Amino acid sequence: MAPPFETLAQRPGRDRSFYIRFMSEDHFPMTTFRLFENEKQDVVEYLLTLARQ
Ligand code: HEM
Repeated sequence: MAPPFETLAQRPGRDRSFYIRFMSEDHFPMTTFRLFENEKQDVVEYLLTLARQ
């Protein structure tokens, strides 16, 4: 089970470029993101708001 996004967002180096790359790659155990590009961008923005808190 993955940690909550609030915890993951506190990891060092989790900036915009990291999340953009992450959202374009396979993600074990979730092998395929079934998200449209605009949805991936929304997830990146959401994760960045958590990192700022
Ligand atoms: C759209 C859905 C999802 C999004 C946006 C998402 C996003 C993320 C992000 C941002 C991370 C942290 C990457 C990092 O900073 O190292 C992560 C880690 C992880 N996710 Fe997901 N995830 C999704 C769905 C899932 C699902 C469905 C599973 C499991 C079936 C899963 C399992 C994991 C695992 C195991 C990790 C690694 C945790 C660790 O490194 O300690 N994710 N995910």
